[in-house]
Amino acid sequence: MAAVDSAVNLGILISGHGSNLQAIIDAIMRRDLAAQIKIVISNRADAFGLERARRHGIEAAVIEHRRFPSREDFDRELVDVLKSHEVDLVILAGFMRLLSPVMIQAFPNRIMNIHPALLPAFPGLHVQKAAIDRGARFSGCTVFFVAEGLDDGPIIIQAVVPVHPNDTEQELSERILAQEHRIYPRAIQLYQQGRLEVRDGRVYINGELDLSLDQATFNPPLR
Ligand code: GRF
Repeated sequence: MAAVDSAVNLGILISGHGSNLQAIIDAIMRRDLAAQIKIVISNRADAFGLERARRHGIEAAVIEHRRFPSREDFDRELVDVLKSHEVDLVILAGFMRLLSPVMIQAFPNRIMNIHPALLPAFPGLHVQKAAIDRGARFSGCTVFFVAEGLDDGPIIIQAVVPVHPNDTEQELSERILAQEHRIYPRAIQLYQQGRLEVRDGRVYINGELDLSLDQATFNPPLR
């Protein structure tokens, strides 16, 4: 009963494929995550993620940013729709629009985003290619609370993957995406459990955590 009462109401914003949306839906269906998706909003009518939502009986809406004269006007509409659906936590899942202070101030420390690199390294676009081009030995993904500034905000969880010598952008992207699907539901679960506390630009995680993962990892190996 308690779990049902404390389930978090999500609003999920997408622009495309929606595989992270699917990972969140799957985690809810497995009962790994006590959450309800109140609405999925896409700024593009052709986003496949809308179809995923509908298949699961989740309300899905298209709000095209082009219909609004400014970023702020678009964001005001997002805020209205999200609030009218009693959304507690906003999840950006491949949502390709920058948010203005209108959204960020309406949901302070209540908007999460996922980025396919180990922030603060490689913010912005085409970051898997950038990691390969720079010869990075590791990359990964980051879930963070959205603050004003591009891919800048308190970090909640990260996963690390190796970059292999002959990786294509596609191969590295897939390796990272597989881990995105694992860390996003976990970040939301920590929020739902009331364990995330933001102080001085950092996220502190309350309660017991398994800290036995203290081994270094090397790429290339030491021998
Ligand atoms: C992911 O790589 C995510 O990190 C980035 O956009 C991609 C979205 O994938 N922000 P999907 O739409 O969830 O499949």
